[in-house]
Amino acid sequence: MAATSTGQETWSGKAAFVFAAVGSAVGLGNLWRFPYAAGENGGGAFVLLYILCIVAIGLPVLAAELFLGRRGGGSAVAAIRRLAEADGRSGAWSLFAWVGMVASFLIVTFYSVIAGWVLYYAWTLIVDLFTSIADQGLAGLTGGAFHGQERAAIEGQLGQLLASPGKMILCHAIFIGLTTWIVSRGVKGGIEAAVTILMPTFFVLLVILSIFAMIQGQAVTALGFLFAPDWSALGERLSDGSILLSAIGQAFFSLSLGSAMMITYGLYLGRDQSIPGSASIVVAADTGVALIAGLAIFPIVFQFGLEPAGGPGLMFGTLPLAFSQMPFGSIFGIAFFLMAFFAALTSSISLLEVATAFADGDVDLDVEEKRRRRVVGAAVLGLVAFLVGCGHALSVVPAEVADTFFNDWHPLGFLPLFEGQTLLDATDGLTTYVLLPFGGLMTAIFAGWVVSRTASREELHFASEAGYRRWRFLVRWVCPLFVGAVLVYGAVVSPWLSGRPAAEAEPVETAPALPPEQQ
Ligand code: TRP
Repeated sequence: MAATSTGQETWSGKAAFVFAAVGSAVGLGNLWRFPYAAGENGGGAFVLLYILCIVAIGLPVLAAELFLGRRGGGSAVAAIRRLAEADGRSGAWSLFAWVGMVASFLIVTFYSVIAGWVLYYAWTLIVDLFTSIADQGLAGLTGGAFHGQERAAIEGQLGQLLASPGKMILCHAIFIGLTTWIVSRGVKGGIEAAVTILMPTFFVLLVILSIFAMIQGQAVTALGFLFAPDWSALGERLSDGSILLSAIGQAFFSLSLGSAMMITYGLYLGRDQSIPGSASIVVAADTGVALIAGLAIFPIVFQFGLEPAGGPGLMFGTLPLAFSQMPFGSIFGIAFFLMAFFAALTSSISLLEVATAFADGDVDLDVEEKRRRRVVGAAVLGLVAFLVGCGHALSVVPAEVADTFFNDWHPLGFLPLFEGQTLLDATDGLTTYVLLPFGGLMTAIFAGWVVSRTASREELHFASEAGYRRWRFLVRWVCPLFVGAVLVYGAVVSPWLSGRPAAEAEPVETAPALPPEQQ
């Protein structure tokens, strides 16, 4: 069953794989989604629940995905089919890898739109810095961002952007274009080359920004907000299952699980690499970044008496306002959005890689043929992702600005979970709260019940038998029962009973109505 044949690329070493996997895990999920998910769900209480999900469910499922990929080889779909057939089971098991592949692709369509916003903010801040230096000399460098602009104008930045489909689509095009180009260059020449530059830069920026924010701002309030548990908020939302679904959805999203993505990065894993060890590093780094990102964001938000807004408003409305009021705000803001851009790029390449690995064919193809197919596959997938993404971008344009068709289209509106949601919200909700938990559930069942014990023990190669037993218990019992129950209750039963979405996919706030001269 060895997956190594002429055409299959592998990571050039242990560090390369860890950078790639951490790069995939660390992204907008950590910087954009986690801080406000924690804020909305009772701070420390949610953080605790989240960490529990990460350790009991995320870690074992991550190890499972990696070993399935390495043992099966080819693409995620081919790997699962081969493994099922090797143990005398039906090749139809590969259907769940198909679902995962579709989920990854759906995610990249809206992920790159949001990443486009990040790019736009970075650009706006850079232009602003140069104009303020030109106007004010050195003071422009040390002062806050968006000099001379009114508070309302700064807070309205997101509204302005949402009302400009052209800008959104241009930034989305640049981002998905970059992603496609990197993925088309292959595992070593593309993905690995990108992550080994971007990830270290990301970490340096994160550390500098969080230290600066803690010194500058209200560190104690921020720590309290993130870590002091508000049990009443937890209790309230525990009853309808929504907080558990939020925590599990966030855990899967943040670790890039349940979508065949880590199976795909497992394909390129060398035999000498320890899977339990690498999985632990990825989980620790991802969780650490989510928490540290909170410490880079909340101290300055509280410093200026701002409220941590829910949804996209936090990163795209509240933070820019904080940047406008703090010393060195321009530089801080540029560094922050560049950091977010790097994190998003290393994640989106992993998302596009899942379907590209499928397009470039199975292990029996030779290097040349695989390379040719990869370039064509990545180009076609990137183009389709761009087109679908345009629909997402048009769906957030306020109705007062223009009727884009997409802003009044509710594709899954007939299901209670997605009532009233437009394309972007519904795609986000469908993937995060349904497809990823479903994929995680199936991965656990497949790795725990379908693949033979001999295969999983040999491939995972735990340092101790106790470690292996613990993994197997979690994957056979805890993950399926817990994730299955939360999925059925949170996504089906509860929304039907109450007639409203249980796990609120972040509503993209409609922009404030613009004054007539800007319309
Ligand atoms: N984990 C990334 C983040 O936190 C996003 C991501 C990359 C992802 N690959 C994925 C999410 C696969 C789900 C599935 O931003």
